[in-house]
Amino acid sequence: MKFDTPATTNPVDALKIIGQPVDRIDGPLKVTGTAPYACDRHDVVDNQAHGYVVGAAIAKGRITAMDLAAAKAAPGVLAIVTAENAGTLAKGRRNTAALLGGPAIQHYHQAIALVVAETFEQARDAAHRLQVAYAPAKGAFDLEAAKASAPIAKPIYGQDPAATAVGEFDVAFARAPVQLDATYRTADESHSMMEPHGTIAAWDGDQLTVWTSNQMVGWAVDDLARTLGMPREKVHVMSPFIGGGFGGKLFLRADVVLAALGARAAKRPVKVSLPRALMPNNTTHRSATIQRIRIGATSDGTITAIGHECWSGDLAGGKPEAAAMQTRALYAGEHRMTEHRLAVLDLAEANAMRAPGEAPGLAALEIAMDEMAEKLGMDPIAFRVHNDTQVVPDNGQSSTDDAKADTSHPPFSKRPLVECLQDGAKRFGWDKRAMKPGSARDGRWLVGMGVAAAFRDNLLTKSAARVRLDRRGVITVETDMTDIGTGSYTIIGQTAAEVMGVGLDQVVVRLADSRFPVSCGSGGQWGGNNATSGVYAACMKLREAVLKQAGFDGREATFAEGAVHSGDRRVTLASLADGRDLVAEDGIEYGDLDKRYRQSTFGAHFVEVGVDAATGETRVRRMLAVCACGRILNPKTARSQVIGAMTMGVGAALMESLVVDRRAGYFANHDLASYEIPVHADIPHQEVVFLDETDPMSSPMKAKGVAELGICGVAAAVANAIYNATGVRVRDYPITLDKLL
Ligand code: MOS
Repeated sequence: MKFDTPATTNPVDALKIIGQPVDRIDGPLKVTGTAPYACDRHDVVDNQAHGYVVGAAIAKGRITAMDLAAAKAAPGVLAIVTAENAGTLAKGRRNTAALLGGPAIQHYHQAIALVVAETFEQARDAAHRLQVAYAPAKGAFDLEAAKASAPIAKPIYGQDPAATAVGEFDVAFARAPVQLDATYRTADESHSMMEPHGTIAAWDGDQLTVWTSNQMVGWAVDDLARTLGMPREKVHVMSPFIGGGFGGKLFLRADVVLAALGARAAKRPVKVSLPRALMPNNTTHRSATIQRIRIGATSDGTITAIGHECWSGDLAGGKPEAAAMQTRALYAGEHRMTEHRLAVLDLAEANAMRAPGEAPGLAALEIAMDEMAEKLGMDPIAFRVHNDTQVVPDNGQSSTDDAKADTSHPPFSKRPLVECLQDGAKRFGWDKRAMKPGSARDGRWLVGMGVAAAFRDNLLTKSAARVRLDRRGVITVETDMTDIGTGSYTIIGQTAAEVMGVGLDQVVVRLADSRFPVSCGSGGQWGGNNATSGVYAACMKLREAVLKQAGFDGREATFAEGAVHSGDRRVTLASLADGRDLVAEDGIEYGDLDKRYRQSTFGAHFVEVGVDAATGETRVRRMLAVCACGRILNPKTARSQVIGAMTMGVGAALMESLVVDRRAGYFANHDLASYEIPVHADIPHQEVVFLDETDPMSSPMKAKGVAELGICGVAAAVANAIYNATGVRVRDYPITLDKLL
């Protein structure tokens, strides 16, 4: 199904099941501990052996010698895989560093061996008996030091220029009567999902089957086949339950490749789970950023110049953290510039983490807006409202390539940012915020309120599904879409039930098997809207098959209560599939609607904090998010996405920081004991409000993404609340108590 004109009324609009806060259909499996996560699959193949990953003990250099003898002689050892005996490995299209290193080492804890043994304990024991000699080389690990020589990055996500310019920023900024020029810093962060990366791999001849934990089944098949140099058709990937991803499982990782190689070497199925302590340095992380923001305004608060420069680091050939991207489109202003510079650092690979770009970008920009409002003597909400724009002020003009300049200013399909801010202000009691920082007190607590805008795009990606009607009247949906804890099973089930006119208990959803039609997968908050749209397309095709079987005229017929109705005729779906199942396969594909109308999601975050006047300890006391993100397919799962994201935003604001050991070149706090993330006791009452927004530009579902919008701006709202409470402006995340004293 091609979607290239705005959606009109369709079966989803009945909203009998879509839009209802139904419980997760996979909930009972989750809460009883019976959902089969990758490494729980003891049942899928017999004779599983265990692999233990060995990570490099240097950040850069070469392995000069590996002595495997002692490890090989250890009890239970079946095989040891290293770059020397693994055969030729290519690199996945989406990987920056090799997933099996050696002799060259590209980053600390890059996998250099897999030890396979009968038991996990034997594999771990033998792994510690490997003798590895290294010749370390000098690496670059310090973003501050590398900043000065960092070049402008390659186009962002391969398509958007890394630097843009509109008008004459320097001139306009210099002339502006009110100016802000401030630099902000965000930390290296680790996804820290509950379930570590893990895989069981089994060979049957030249056919490889893996049970793994991956957000993007199609990408995993593609990159695994590439890495091993085998045809895609011979690779079967399943990832039906995932204990969190946050972007850390978007890409093929070492556990998958090593499990496959280990299984080949041991001639047995092999299970590999990455030890927690290997994750921050072995897998991807969100790069730290340094961001300089300049805003110039007239004394009435009109922004005339806005500039945002961002520095981040990655391995050679890697990607920048796109933290200035949202500044191209969030606020008005005639003269503008953005720039992303990328330093080559020899730390682990930097890559996407929940709201890549916007999360750290808004963490900086939305403090800058608060600072600027204060300089202007304006309320921070009034300042944002005053500079709202209903068109995109910078649609990606390259400052280095005028030939490609795009001077259009497309409108947003919907942009109720002002409503989000104003509605939130009313609900939160913003009028009770003390104007003077450091002036509100509750016992020993200094109390303050902060606000920030939330903004993230809604991405349209094709997505396919297969649906089957059987003689029981049951609709079975099959798509390689994943559920990373987001609720995909449930909203896909709701979609099929709504379109086919059956109860949710008459729908079976089967996900994340590479033998099913290729979906959009889970990432970039694109999963909910696109995956359900693909299911919608397949169901609409199944409706045609049903009507044909019933001999009905499509224009007259309605689907309800497990039957199709036309005039006074009623035929049950079950009876139409009595002879054979009716099957339909289709997907959603998009035209250029998202080029003509910028599709984005908006919100406003409100935070109240208390800061202990003596110790500087910050406690978040209240949080509110008001979100406008298209039709809400399931208010319960959508709310869960937003409160989870708000919690992650508190982590970024107050706790999360991978500490770089600048001599050895690794993240020193590489476990959950020392990399701090919020726990329940850190998080207060959270309220989430969804504005009533149905966006016909987004898809037949009229929905958008929400999972990443929820984190966008949260850190700045916390930082602004701390400033309001204490009068101390911290521009360096995380805002630990030492920075407040
Ligand atoms: Mo998201 S960081 O694209 O999984």
